[in-house]
Order: sequence, then C-alpha cells, then structure tokens
Amino acid sequence: MKKKLKNNVYWLGKVDWDLRTFHGEELSTHRGSTYNSYLIKEEKNVLIDTVWLPYAKEFVENLKSEINLEDIDYIVINHGEVDHSGALVELMQHIPDTPIYCSQNAVKSLKGQYHQDWNFNVVKTGDKLDLGNGKELIFVEMTMLHWPDSMAAFLTEDNILFSNDAFGQHFASDMLFNDLVDQCALFEEALKYYANILNPFSMLLRRKLDEIMALDLPIEMIATSHGVLWRDNPMQIVEKYVEWANDYQENQITIIYDSMWEGTKKLADNIVQGIRKVDNDVIVKVFFLPHSDENDLISEVFKSKTVIVGSPTMNNSMLHSVAGFIHLAKEAKFKKKKAAAFGCYGWSGEAVKLVSEKMKDAGFEIINDGFRNQWNPDKEAQKEAIEFGKEIAKA
Ligand code: FEO
Repeated sequence: MKKKLKNNVYWLGKVDWDLRTFHGEELSTHRGSTYNSYLIKEEKNVLIDTVWLPYAKEFVENLKSEINLEDIDYIVINHGEVDHSGALVELMQHIPDTPIYCSQNAVKSLKGQYHQDWNFNVVKTGDKLDLGNGKELIFVEMTMLHWPDSMAAFLTEDNILFSNDAFGQHFASDMLFNDLVDQCALFEEALKYYANILNPFSMLLRRKLDEIMALDLPIEMIATSHGVLWRDNPMQIVEKYVEWANDYQENQITIIYDSMWEGTKKLADNIVQGIRKVDNDVIVKVFFLPHSDENDLISEVFKSKTVIVGSPTMNNSMLHSVAGFIHLAKEAKFKKKKAAAFGCYGWSGEAVKLVSEKMKDAGFEIINDGFRNQWNPDKEAQKEAIEFGKEIAKA
C-alpha cells in the first residue's frame, strides 16, 4: 500500500517485521527492517530503488496497482545491493527499455548480480534529471557509504533527500516518519546501524557530510532506504552522524568476557569494583559474551572509551568466542579507544597476552600487560583484580 510523503511523492516499500538477521547472519535486526522504495509522479514518473529479492513479486504487483508500469519514465537505483535492487529483474521483464539512472559502479554491481544489459544511464554528483513541473532530481555520489556504488538523489521544490542506506535504521514500522515512533528505540537502532555498518567509513563520511553541507540543499525530509524517514528536524540525524563520525565515545567502560569455570567471571566482577573505587561517574557495563548479541556489543564498544576483554586460556589460546568478537571489532575500525585484557588459566596461560595483541591489531590502544590469574581467584587475586580495575579507571 502506498503512503504519501508530500505532494506527488509516495512510499511503496516493504515493512519486514520478521527480519531478525541481515547481510545473511552477520547483523542482528531485533526490530525487523524496511526496504523503502519511492514513486514520484510529476510530468515524468520516477521510481527510486525497489525492495529485497524475496518481496519482488509482491512489490511489482503493488506498483502495478499504483501506476501503469509503462508510464514509469525513469528508474533511479541509488545502490546495487540486493535489498534495494532485488525487484529489478521482476520489474524489468515488464518494462525492459526503461532507463535506469545510477552510478558507474552501480552498473558493475547490477550487471554482476543480475547479468542483464539494461538501459543504464550513468550519473555523477551534480547531474540533474528534469521531472517537469519545475522539479529536478540532483544526484550526489555517496561512494563507500557504504558501497562503492552508493548514491543519493535530491528532489528540488519538495526538498527531499533520498539518501539510500545513509541515515537509515533497521527498524520495522508502518508509521513512516521519525516523529511518530519511540525515540529511544529509533536512536538505539540508528546508532547500531552506524556502529555496525558505517563506522568503518567514518573518515570518508566526514568529507561527504562536508560536501553535502557545501551543496547547501534546503533539505526538508530525508527519505532513507531502511526504517523511518526523517521529516521532523531532518538535520538532527545529519548532526548525529557528524558526532558519530568523529571518533565517538561516551564516558563508558565496557567489560566483555567469556568464562569456563567462572574464574574469569569473578575477575570481571572485581575489576568493576576497582573501577568504581576510582570513578563514581563512569558508566560501567559488563557482558558475558556467549549470552550477548555481538552486534549490540559493537554498539557498546562504539560508545566506550575503554574496552576490557576477558578470556581464560584454552589449548594455549583464547576462547573462540573472544577471538571471533575481536575480529568483528576490528572490522568496525574503531579509533582512539583504549583496551586491556584479563583472564584465568590453569596451566600455560597464554590468553591474556594473545587477547592484548589481537586488540592492538584491531586498532585499540593497549593500556597495560593485562591481568592474569592461575586457577580460581583467591582473596589475594581478587584484591589484585580490584587494583587492576583501578588502574584501568585511571588510564
Ligand atoms: Fe541497504 Fe547496502 O543495502
């Protein structure tokens, strides 16, 4: 069912209430998601993006009920990833010659995925498409936000920025607009989306945000490709992105650990006590890795100034859960965050050193040599763990 954004601009996407993982199993989506497609009906009719492949038939049927497909003059594909281009094959069977406007790299990704020689029209930043009635689409390349082919389009007069993945959230809602949903949930999802998907490209994003600001577009609405649209104070999410793209951190220390027989867990509890003895204000959060959602933990690391990672030694190494999580943290390319390691061991005790090395390799500044304890922590060891916590808090 279509929904009106303003004037002759409509949403025609899919609310995927059931989605619980995205990018295969890589990213958790506790609140589902949406795939937002837009139809602009001016003298020229334009379709912007489509939906994910499993919903292709449903999407094209809906589209048919809103417009004679032959009357679509142009298709704009802002990004070739399958969650936005997935209905193209189904759609283009009906209107095979309709021009597709996209970036040069999107031609590569669309041809690579669908093996079709559609009527591609390559556009770059500043190129315009006349829609009649005094309205134009102006294209802005969004290279590496988050794919080499990513692009945005700005509709003049209505002043809507179709931003594709940027400024989105995996947040299923049929309320469409940001002012109609729970603000805590909205910003939690927007931050998770940024931390997990966009943080690796923060440096590029800083430049791109400057470039968008310099264009001085009178943005009245940001129509993302996932989640709700920003119509109430749309620049608030741009301002958040400026903040997040600049090595974001809050006054938070996060402890993430795995444990076999609760020795490393005991150390974690003592480290918290140590931190508290030094700093009453810092937010301290503790997560037992096997019971935590790794993508939520990436959000927590994103908010942290320091991350303390614990693992017992197993077969001369750390537990695989810890190795896997540090790999994920490395992919997020965090900058200017501190880290330290801790853990119990019975015999050889390599884990703490290896966790420190792996965290350093993941881009964290290592505070000290870490804290390790042989066997189950006794009173003395627990006191030492408290001292270790104090040292972290002072670092
Ligand atoms: Fe929402 Fe990069 O696709």
